[in-house]
Amino acid sequence: MNETINILGIAGSLRQASFNRAALRAAQGLVPAGVTLELFDLAAIPMFNQDTEAKPPAEVVRFKQCIRAADAILISTPEYNYSISGVLKNAIDCASRPFGDSAWAGKPVALMGASPSLFGSARAQYHLRQVFVAVDMLPLNRPEVMIGNAAKAFDAQGTLVDATSRDLIRKLLVELVAWTRHLKRNHAAAA
Ligand code: FNR
Repeated sequence: MNETINILGIAGSLRQASFNRAALRAAQGLVPAGVTLELFDLAAIPMFNQDTEAKPPAEVVRFKQCIRAADAILISTPEYNYSISGVLKNAIDCASRPFGDSAWAGKPVALMGASPSLFGSARAQYHLRQVFVAVDMLPLNRPEVMIGNAAKAFDAQGTLVDATSRDLIRKLLVELVAWTRHLKRNHAAAA
């Protein structure tokens, strides 16, 4: 029998009515059997200061523990000025330091994003893929989940009502779990 896969979900927005957090909440309702999806709130992650990287703030320590405990990561990114938000980049930087003690290295990761524009965070997602190279994460290529026209895709309560987006997220989760299991098997075989 397959062991449980635990996914850590991270939204790159602090906005209370964030479409990206709402997309992760939708994903929580779409996980396959034997999979958990916990969300980590970035609100308490302070701005990175390299002077304190050897003795990081408690919330950064907790963040790194949660990343390490997860089998895979799912990021939902907003698009700010054609890139990822400062909030998300700061959190990635915090958990990547100090040098040699990154929590990200080798982690399977899937990404998605939502935006009120037609592009659905596409430009931010390709920037995020570049950051994954820097921190040596192992991203799933497809499906790509870009939820455009978010004000229509979500209802007033923040429920994702767009059927195509829900279907894509369901497929993304199935593929992320298969990718994670594949990497685990390869890792075990190489040990
Ligand atoms: C935006 N927004 C935006 N949208 C987009 O599609 N492309 C962009 O380049 C930008 N740029 C941008 C910059 C800044 C500073 C803000 C605050 C916003 C709009 C953005 O997609 C929208 O606010 C989303 O709702 C943000 O995601 P959350 O908070 O709903 O998850």
